[in-house]
Amino acid sequence: MSKKILITGGAGYIGTILTSSMLRQNYKVRVIDNLLYGGEAILPFLLDKNYEFIKGDIREKDLLEKVVQDIDGIVHLAAIVGFPICSVIPDVALEVNVEATKNLVELAAKNKVKRFVFASTYSNYGVADDIVTEESLLNPVSLYAETKIKGEKIVLEGDNTNTKPTVLRFATAFGFSPRMRFDLIINQFTLEMELNKKLEVYQKNYYRSYVHVQDIVKTIIMVLEAEESLVSRQIFNVGGNELNYTKEEIAMIIKRFIPEAKLIVKDYSIDGDMRSIRVSYDKVKKVLGFKPSWSVEKGIEEMLGIIRNKIISNPKDPRYYQLSAVK
Ligand SMILES: NC(=O)c1ccc[n+]([C@@H]2O[C@H](COP(=O)([O-])OP(=O)(O)OC[C@H]3O[C@@H](n4cnc5c(N)ncnc54)[C@H](O)[C@@H]3O)[C@@H](O)[C@H]2O)c1
Repeated sequence: MSKKILITGGAGYIGTILTSSMLRQNYKVRVIDNLLYGGEAILPFLLDKNYEFIKGDIREKDLLEKVVQDIDGIVHLAAIVGFPICSVIPDVALEVNVEATKNLVELAAKNKVKRFVFASTYSNYGVADDIVTEESLLNPVSLYAETKIKGEKIVLEGDNTNTKPTVLRFATAFGFSPRMRFDLIINQFTLEMELNKKLEVYQKNYYRSYVHVQDIVKTIIMVLEAEESLVSRQIFNVGGNELNYTKEEIAMIIKRFIPEAKLIVKDYSIDGDMRSIRVSYDKVKKVLGFKPSWSVEKGIEEMLGIIRNKIISNPKDPRYYQLSAVK
């Protein structure tokens, strides 16, 4: 079992939940992050003797060289995440998501790091009529997905004599995290419907796939602890077959919790994000025995608790939205 883990992007939405879960399971955690969305979310971890934080940019190779010393595994989450921000800063997206990944993979091999988990996305499938599996053709419709596909190739084709790489293609996450994101569909729709008592949904028949952030974290740890032969050079879709929904279906589920809200659905697209995909999660279930514990309904209840109790006092604060990093 890998015990000292480097998490790149460990101050992020997934990274802070992963950190807290790993510390609870007695891992030693080292994080590198340049705090694009601030550092408040990591404050509680700084008290833990098993936690080490390095503020820095993964594009700095000299720094990376030091950061990968003396660790058993890497979970590589740091990235410019999502299609809107990647299209605003395409050069940075390529440097971080592709070039820095290449350096990290090389350094992992050189330092004989045993495991390497790469955070990828089901966005790589783009648009497809049939249900997609890990074998399906990739059809990226954004620079974000293009950079992630390049990252996957680097990770899977790198020197794996000592380092066993695994690619995880996460569905769209939902749920609470100390580094909150209100730009993820379920979180965003729940917030808007609760605050405005009204929601307009575009591309109503477009399928997306969803997974709770706690379930993402569970899978990452399962991969780190799995038999090497099960995960080495493998790609897994991470989610659940029952969690493929159209946008309209998601909005209808949220409306059940906020019946007084008005729902307006439209067929057309306003933001140019043309992804529509249904994903098969048979492989992750069969090989790792992973099944999501969180339904969409449970995630919405959790989110409404956060909003209604004002645990996050100003959910409209730009820092909860990816584009704030470039403003
Ligand atoms: N959240 C999702 O729905 C989802 C879905 C599929 C895949 N993913 C992947 O999971 C990973 C984590 O996503 P997230 O939702 O936690 O996003 P996030 O933006 O909250 O986290 C990314 C973290 O990386 C850090 N970072 C960015 N550039 C950096 C750099 N140059 N040097 C050091 N740190 C840097 C940011 O400060 C941030 O803390 C990403 O690789 C993303 O592509 C996320």
